[in-house]
Amino acid sequence: MASIAHLSDPHVTTGPLAAEPTARLRAALDRARALDPALVVITGDLVEHGRAEEYAALREILDGFAPLPHLVAGNHDDPAALAAAFGMDATRYVADHPAATLVVLDSTVPGAPGGLLGDEQLAWLDAALTRRPGRPAFVAVHHPPIAVGLPVLDGMRLADGPALAEVVARHPQVARVLCGHVHRAITAPFAGTTLAVAPSTFRQSELPRRGGRYVAEPAGFLLHDEVEGAWITHTVTAGEPARTGLPRSAGAAKMVR
Ligand SMILES: [Fe+2]
Repeated sequence: MASIAHLSDPHVTTGPLAAEPTARLRAALDRARALDPALVVITGDLVEHGRAEEYAALREILDGFAPLPHLVAGNHDDPAALAAAFGMDATRYVADHPAATLVVLDSTVPGAPGGLLGDEQLAWLDAALTRRPGRPAFVAVHHPPIAVGLPVLDGMRLADGPALAEVVARHPQVARVLCGHVHRAITAPFAGTTLAVAPSTFRQSELPRRGGRYVAEPAGFLLHDEVEGAWITHTVTAGEPARTGLPRSAGAAKMVR
């Protein structure tokens, strides 16, 4: 039985605000480790500001964690700084595991919160998925390719989601498209497969999300588990709700408490 731990949006940083996202990510990793996943993926917004010292802090957290998580770039990340910190050749790649193929995509657009893959990367994905048609495949991309009902985030989704759907639909072995960005656990049908958005290991978006607020809901991650030949998804909570996730104004805080 194989399983994939799918974490997202840890937003690791340095300085006075470092303690909480660091503790939350450690709690999620500890919980994930206890579940003995075959592979671990973190679907973006690995750090808050894309700075080299933040990637060094992330590396310190991940050091010693086996298996070493696959890292996806999000809009808060700097792909070049990420690649440099972890010795990655590129921020898009294919990993052939015995249990599954993982394809990591880079949907970041410099200076923009929304995402885009582009025709060249989509053609590369199409070719990557042709290589092992008999193995389940997981496609990891930070930005969800469809609207999920949270207007602020829907406005910064993957711009070429329909083009991604066309590629994914050609490869029936794709078991999940794995996303982050939204800071909530969400599942939806997508291109003949299932889209799974992981919650943040740090702080969760308010539902409905008004003006980009975060709420003190439990942090966690997803576990995609192969059971009797089918992939099922557990939502796993880890750690206490993030205190700094509360809205900034007293009035808004009252509303969500
Ligand atoms: Fe995020």
